[in-house]
Amino acid sequence: MSSRHWIFGYGSLLWHPEFPHLEQRPAFVRGWTRRFWQASTDHRGVPGRPGRVVTLVPEPGAVCWGMGYRLDPEQLDGVLVTLDWRERGGYERHDVALLFEHDATQGEPGLMYVATPANPNYVGPRELSEIACQVRSAHGPSGANLDYVLRLADALRRMAAEDVHVFALERLLRAGES
Ligand code: SIN
Repeated sequence: MSSRHWIFGYGSLLWHPEFPHLEQRPAFVRGWTRRFWQASTDHRGVPGRPGRVVTLVPEPGAVCWGMGYRLDPEQLDGVLVTLDWRERGGYERHDVALLFEHDATQGEPGLMYVATPANPNYVGPRELSEIACQVRSAHGPSGANLDYVLRLADALRRMAAEDVHVFALERLLRAGES
């Protein structure tokens, strides 16, 4: 059994974890930034008309806020099976240290799911207007892609978390400027 009992959620896991946990706390990771650079054909889009979801990309000095979930060690293996299935569209488990205070230096060991350039659904950098256009037209088994973006932005706002990329995309979508 792993000693990493924290899960860091930064996308849909932030507002919709759907797995048992003992506590949840806003948390951040260092050296990563959130980007809508991953296509979704299984949750917020379909093959042939993929949606856009977030992944984390390495960026020296960056900080990314999300939600930390502390798991019951007895339930860890079962939760990871569930999450491996949910995140099967290109995400892989990644060890990470979760931090909870702005000035924290030492973190709690945990896991997060990252979609790297090695997965077939990775898109990489694109103009925000192109991403917005794709988000507007995409729907998948988990619902409208637009809903994913707006719920993520709302969840970040509730935590008073800054995210220039997410909020800029939200503004474009709300303004209908895509
Ligand atoms: C996450 O939320 O941590 C992973 C990406 C997603 O499922 O949206």
